Amino acid sequence: MNHGRSLALLFSLSLLLPVTPVFSAEKFISIGSDALPTITKKLASKFQVIHQDEDISLLKVSDNDIVKISEIMHNEFNRCGGFMSFENESEGLKQVQEKHLWDFAQKSSFADYTITQQDRVENLIGQVDASKILSVIQGLSQFKNRYYRAPTGVESQKYLKDTWSQIVANRSDAKVEYFSHSSWPQPSVVLTITGSETPDEIIVVGGHADSISGYWDRNNSRAPGSDDNASGIATLTEALRVLVKNSYQPKKTVKFMGYAAEEVGLLGSKEIASSFRQEGKQVVGVLQLDMTNFHGSDIDLVLMSDFTNSDQNAFIGKLVDEYLKLPWGYDKCGYACSDHASWHTQGYPSSIPFEARMREMNHKIHTPEDTLDVSNGNADHAAKFSKLALAYIVELDK
Ligand code: BES
Ligand code: ZN
Repeated sequence: MNHGRSLALLFSLSLLLPVTPVFSAEKFISIGSDALPTITKKLASKFQVIHQDEDISLLKVSDNDIVKISEIMHNEFNRCGGFMSFENESEGLKQVQEKHLWDFAQKSSFADYTITQQDRVENLIGQVDASKILSVIQGLSQFKNRYYRAPTGVESQKYLKDTWSQIVANRSDAKVEYFSHSSWPQPSVVLTITGSETPDEIIVVGGHADSISGYWDRNNSRAPGSDDNASGIATLTEALRVLVKNSYQPKKTVKFMGYAAEEVGLLGSKEIASSFRQEGKQVVGVLQLDMTNFHGSDIDLVLMSDFTNSDQNAFIGKLVDEYLKLPWGYDKCGYACSDHASWHTQGYPSSIPFEARMREMNHKIHTPEDTLDVSNGNADHAAKFSKLALAYIVELDK
C-alpha cells in the first residue's frame, strides 16, 4: 500500500465535503415530564419546549445536547436511553399525542375494583357444575378441528352459536351474533346481554374457539383442542348458564366472545378490539380464558403479568382470595400469547387467569393428543375458573 497516495486522496476528498458543520443540526425528543426540571437545570444550552403535559414533553434540542441528556437520564433517573428522538416536529408530536391517548386509556379505567357483592356471588358460584363444562368440552372437541380456514372451523362456530343461543332463548335482553371476518371463513361468536342501567359500559369475557395441529395439512389435521381452548369456552358457557338460570340482569352490558383465528396470530380478537376502539366503545374490563382445565402447578390459578392491566390483575387476585380461597400467583407469557393482548394493545384493561405456571402447562396442546384424558376426564379445574368469571362479572357490574 502506498501511504503517500492514499493520504493525497483523503486530502482531495476532504475538499469536497460540505462546509455546514453537522453539530448544529436540531432534533426533537420526547421525554417524561418529570425529568424536565432536571434537564433545564443541568443543560447549559437553551432548548425549546414544543409540547408539555403531565406525562410527556417534546423538546427541540441541538444534536450535541442529545448526548448530555442521555447522560443525565442515565445518571439521575436510572433510565437507559430515557427518551425517543425524531427527525422532525410533526413526527414527534404524533408520537407524543398517541402515547398520551394510550396512557389516558390505561389510566382512565372507570372500573370499581371493590368487593361488595358477597351474597350474590356466593349464591351463584355454588351452582357451578363441572359436568356441564365437561359436556361442552366434549361437544367442541368432537369436530375434526376448529381451524380458521377449515369447513369444520365454521361448523364448530355454528355449534357454539347454537349452544349459547339455547341458553339465552328466553331472554329478550340477549342476542347471539357472528362477527364476520373478511379474510377467512371462520366467524367469531359474540353474545350480548344488554345492560339495564349503563348499557354503554361493557364487560367482555372471552376465549378463542379455534384449534390447530400439524403443519402441512391443517385443514384436515385432527385438532381436538380440549384444553386449548375448548376448556375456556366451556368455562364461560357454564358461567353464562348459571347467570341466566338465576335471571341475572346486568346493569352494564356483558359480552361473551368466542374468537376466531387466535391460533394463527390473534386475528379474530385483533379485528374485534380495534373495531371497539374505532367506535369509541367503553370497555370496563376484559377477562380472557385460554386453557383452564390442566392442573399442572401446586397453585391453582396463574395471572400473566405481561400484556395485561396490573390494577385489574390485583382485583382478580382479590376475587380469588375472597371467593375461591385457593393459592394463586403471577407468571409471564413473555409474548402476546393470547387474545387478552389484542385488547391490551387497544388500551383496554385486560387479564388472563391461566391453568398453571408457564413451564408447567399442558404440553399436549396443538397436537391430536390435546384431549380430556390429559385432564383425567373431568372438568374440576375449569370449574374454578367458571366461579372466577362469575365473581368478575358480578363485582364489576356495579
Ligand atoms: N393457549 C395458547 C396460549 C398460551 C400458551 C397461553 C402458553 C399461555 C401459555 C394459545 O392458543 C396459543 O397457542 N398462542 C400462540 C400465540 C399466537 C400469537 C399464535 C402461541 O403461544 O404460540
Ligand atoms: Zn394455542
